[in-house]
Amino acid sequence: MPQVAKGLEGVVVSETALSHPDGENGRLIYLGYEIADLANNATYEEVVHLLWTGHLPTRGEFTEFSAKMASYRVLPKSVTDVIRTMPTDSEPMDVLRTAVSAFGAVQKITGKATIEHAMALTAVFPTIMATFDRQRRGLAPLAPRADLNHAANYLYMLSGEVPSDQRTRALDTYLILTADHGLNASTFTARVIASTLSDMCSSIVGAIGALKGPLHGGAPALVLNMLREIGTPENAEAWLTAALDRGERLMGFGHRVYKAEDPRAKVLRSLAERTSEIDFFRLAIRVEDLALKMLHERKPDRRLYTNVEFYSSAVLHGVGLPDDLFTPTFAISRVAGWTAHVIEQLKDNRLIRPDAEYVGPTRMTFVPLEKR
Ligand SMILES: CC(C)(COP(=O)(O)OP(=O)(O)OC[C@H]1O[C@@H](n2cnc3c(N)ncnc32)[C@H](O)[C@@H]1OP(=O)(O)O)[C@@H](O)C(=O)NCCC(=O)NCCS
Repeated sequence: MPQVAKGLEGVVVSETALSHPDGENGRLIYLGYEIADLANNATYEEVVHLLWTGHLPTRGEFTEFSAKMASYRVLPKSVTDVIRTMPTDSEPMDVLRTAVSAFGAVQKITGKATIEHAMALTAVFPTIMATFDRQRRGLAPLAPRADLNHAANYLYMLSGEVPSDQRTRALDTYLILTADHGLNASTFTARVIASTLSDMCSSIVGAIGALKGPLHGGAPALVLNMLREIGTPENAEAWLTAALDRGERLMGFGHRVYKAEDPRAKVLRSLAERTSEIDFFRLAIRVEDLALKMLHERKPDRRLYTNVEFYSSAVLHGVGLPDDLFTPTFAISRVAGWTAHVIEQLKDNRLIRPDAEYVGPTRMTFVPLEKR
């Protein structure tokens, strides 16, 4: 009997030079650069350039690259019309998936995937989400502003106000931290689709679907729900004990790869301290301390630590995003990684097609329909 690698844990299906989450040591690198160095010193556009081209841009390259990406932010009218047909209570991830698919058809993102395709898709994600968010609030969409960077323009298109440097920097840092992460479920999905020689847009639409699930990108809003339900630091112990007694998972803890603290959580914790309200941050710290203690006591061999989602929720809330835009904002960041992986997959492609161990019935006798 062949061994079934449930969840493909530990199975290596491809090489990548893009990012490496080192789970044992709690490190993450993008093309050799430590994530904290990039998060604290670079901008999202520099990191996107790094992922797509393999090097950090020079000043000249950066200016040209940022201007070009900014010029791609405008949505074709037919895609805005598709968004207009969406009910206002639609899930934003469903709208993103639908609008990106429409964008690919309208803009003819077909044939061999290119950096141009990657740029076109990455540039419009914030416009799609801001257009929908304003529409559901009864507001007209705002045209993107090419004089603002990716993070600032997204916040501007949502609120109509140019954000403070602090808010822009907080979102920019978040976007850098979550831009790529090895062969996570959505990136794997994108690579599987790319391996069939489908187009870039199809890979990205599939990846959006994979990211939506609460075991992957859907967790940050659930973290916020948990913190709101807990309400006060005094209530934390009883709430967490009851949840674990019921066999529930604590959102924002545990990771398939990290068996030490997620290095992104470390950066986000200090960012959350600066961006969220003091009482909220105190509550988050208390919940984190207790949750880690309890998880350690109950599952000592599992090595469960705080993951990226726990403090993402505080940071995204702190920059003023509504809860249901947390996962789409994760997608706004991760599309850079997805597209980079699609391009990498195609450099040395082989169809990704694993096997399954058949465990169904055998030797069934067929009975014609009229005799069943
Ligand atoms: C992220 C996650 C899906 C990783 O899952 P995984 O590698 O498949 O790990 P498993 O689901 O096999 O869990 C391993 C064990 O740890 C426990 N565990 C993992 N995460 C847990 C959590 N957040 N709370 C409580 N228990 C948890 C599981 O119950 C399981 O225990 P058991 O084997 O005794 O039944 C998982 O940790 C999780 O569900 N976390 C909460 C959701 C979340 O924060 N998602 C965002 C990820 S960035």
